[in-house]
Amino acid sequence: DSDRINIAIDGPAGAGKSTVARMVAGQLGYVYIDTGAMYRAVTLSAQRLAIAFEQESALSELLSGLRIKLEPGPNGQSIFVNGEDVTQEIRSREVTRQVSYFAASGVVRGVLSAMQREMAARKGVVMDGRDIGTHVLPDAELKVFLTASVKERAARRFKELPADQAISLEQLEKEIAERDALDEQRDISPLLKAHDAIELDSSYMTIEEVVASIVKLSRTKLAEAK
Ligand code: CDP
Ligand code: CDP
Repeated sequence: DSDRINIAIDGPAGAGKSTVARMVAGQLGYVYIDTGAMYRAVTLSAQRLAIAFEQESALSELLSGLRIKLEPGPNGQSIFVNGEDVTQEIRSREVTRQVSYFAASGVVRGVLSAMQREMAARKGVVMDGRDIGTHVLPDAELKVFLTASVKERAARRFKELPADQAISLEQLEKEIAERDALDEQRDISPLLKAHDAIELDSSYMTIEEVVASIVKLSRTKLAEAK
């Protein structure tokens, strides 16, 4: 179906991927898929059962019983695990601190990438993550690598925190940098710009500017695909 393309948006934490991907999908009438939410959902489920990231067989068993569902929700996308809405809980600091360790597990990556590929099989998907352009959808017609300085990304995340936040901007910046390093250095599909991805540095761009440039790129790719 050459009326629709797949769009992969990768990059480090806080670059604006999910905000922008959701808006691009809205403008194109595409489906938005937040793959980070899937890694978070697996992390939360493992934490509840006290399964550590090294416990491959326990993780494998956990994954085989997990039904993960993504749905459009009141604040963007909602995520359900075996019918339970975990949209809020997967954003906890505990999950955020451990997710990159679970995401380095081959068992976890294998299962989630297969699910993600299936979700994109009929095209018309905007998928954001770390390895979408390199590994999950290497044939995506448009690949964007969205970045911003770590200072800017930490500042953006800091603004999102509730008023009773128990973390300083400095600590947040440190935790983001640590997560970036883990994501870039893992052996299996690390965070990496695909050779054919277009890099956008959003440090000095508004959300609207980033969305407009991705929508424009997608129109060009759509015209090429026809
Ligand atoms: O929203 P934020 O940038 O904080 O992170 P996320 O997109 O929710 O992803 C959380 C974590 O999941 C990342 O730090 C990665 O460790 C992992 N992840 C991944 O390994 N591969 C993906 N395609 C998406 C997320
Ligand atoms: O998904 P990712 O971790 O890459 O970023 P996000 O969750 O979309 O968070 C980015 C935050 O920065 C949001 O609060 C956005 O409103 C804000 N922001 C942005 O996304 N893009 C800009 N150009 C400026 C601000």
